[in-house]
Amino acid sequence: MSTTPENDYSSRRTFAIISHPDAGKTTMTEKLLLFGGAIQLAGTVKGKKSGRHATSDWMAMEKERGISVTSSVMQFPYRERIVNLLDTPGHEDFSEDTYRVLTAVDSALMVIDAAKGVEARTIKLMEVCRLRTTPIMTFVNKLDREGRDPLELLDEVETVLNIRCAPVTWPIGSGKRFRGIYHIAQDTTYLYGAADGTRDQAVEAIKGLDNPDLDARIGSQADELRDEIELVAGAADEFDLEAYLAGEQTPVYFGSAMNNFGVQSLLDDFVEYAPAPQPREATGRTVDPSETKFTGFVFKIQANMDPQHRDRIAFLRICSGEFRRGMKSHHVRLGRDVKIPDALTFMSSDRVRLETAQAGDIIGIHNHGTVRIGDTFTEGEKLAFTGIPNFAPELFRRAQLKDPLKSKQLLKGLSQLCEEGATQLYRPMTNNDLILGAVGVLQFDVVAQRLKDEYNVDCRFEAVNVNTARWVECDDAKRFEEFKNKNQQNLALDHAGDLVYIAPTRVNLQMTQERWPEVRFLATREHG
Ligand code: G4P
Repeated sequence: MSTTPENDYSSRRTFAIISHPDAGKTTMTEKLLLFGGAIQLAGTVKGKKSGRHATSDWMAMEKERGISVTSSVMQFPYRERIVNLLDTPGHEDFSEDTYRVLTAVDSALMVIDAAKGVEARTIKLMEVCRLRTTPIMTFVNKLDREGRDPLELLDEVETVLNIRCAPVTWPIGSGKRFRGIYHIAQDTTYLYGAADGTRDQAVEAIKGLDNPDLDARIGSQADELRDEIELVAGAADEFDLEAYLAGEQTPVYFGSAMNNFGVQSLLDDFVEYAPAPQPREATGRTVDPSETKFTGFVFKIQANMDPQHRDRIAFLRICSGEFRRGMKSHHVRLGRDVKIPDALTFMSSDRVRLETAQAGDIIGIHNHGTVRIGDTFTEGEKLAFTGIPNFAPELFRRAQLKDPLKSKQLLKGLSQLCEEGATQLYRPMTNNDLILGAVGVLQFDVVAQRLKDEYNVDCRFEAVNVNTARWVECDDAKRFEEFKNKNQQNLALDHAGDLVYIAPTRVNLQMTQERWPEVRFLATREHG
């Protein structure tokens, strides 16, 4: 079979956008889809005020609140590459989901608001990218508004995020005086006409910084630009591909996502320089994407993505080999071969049935409760991909049904929603409570709303005397039995059936830990 971008894993560019809410992630997503030909007209992806909804937003609640609650995956071809863009929830209460999405990408795009600079959530997400030295490109957005001085912004990125900046493009003015960008390596100025919402907008290219055409077109701003570029040449790094791939340097692009300004330069370089699928760590060995046998791991599960289908989809990142429709695959944790009859890929909002997929691609497989976040699939080899975190929740509430006859539905709904990983369900050993644990308070609202919409169950979440939860493990089976007998009151099973110690206070947890040194109390746990 001949090699085409479709069947060649090295054509894949799999990434996510990281940013503080409101910096322009959704707008940028839309523009990338526009340039990638996945949508025809800007504005079809979203408009919080106009009532149109984002391709990347699945839930009604999300639209109401104007936040991105769940993540999704979008694939589009660009030039000779196949781009996989993984959406990440913007709200910090869903940060856990975001962390896991970032384990499934090979690089990230950081979007910064030119007026606000580096914000809290960007710092957090950057820390996560650091854990796996994920290469990062930076887009400074909203240049059509009065923003901060670009050099000052670069300085802030360097000091706060501790990464060197290499400006690839440079803005010409800002706010009302924003005229376009100068591409440093190409020595070409791109002047923009009015945005018309399509990708074929008017762009005028002027070669050479000393070109008198520039003075003719932008007057005194031409000399201002020349002065700035001289300054930049002396003060900033040049783009260094190796340093970028090592996560030490970030190439920086300026523009306005809303107006399509500067987005194409970014995308052109992205498909050129961003890393192809990278090797992945697994137990015992590193898996290379060029290996012919199929391997992959599940980083996300989503229930009822499409109310009409009422299904649960597990998102699997392919790490090596090829996925073929109907292939038999080995579910390592269960030690079982399973047939994956049809997998999905996500082009905008349409589900496309997929024949084959390569390393770097994300496929959606139907989950009937057997797949968990962190699960590895192979062609038979017993290996498990590592580094997919699960965090012990910090907030706990008891589910209180309005209609007691709905308890079966409630349990089903909670169990299925907890498969997604953002919340945890605890069923104490000694009573029939259903306790939900979450990392952020908004999740309780989301779960209550979804129980109503998707399971027709009305429930409230009320205070419960739980302060913290820890997964418990012990190598000494006899001691573990003793521990379980003595601590029944504080033990619960999570939705996957794993044992958890739920402590009413920190002090209680500490004392129990001291009393049972052989037992491990885990706040973070790797899935699988
Ligand atoms: P997010 O996903 O990171 O939260 O950001 P989002 O794209 O939703 O953008 C946040 C707001 O910033 C939106 O305005 C959006 O239109 C605006 N925006 C994005 N890019 C630019 C840009 O380049 N220039 C300017 N001036 N604004 C930009 P909104 O009023 O909240 O919503 P909407 O009704 O415009 O969608």
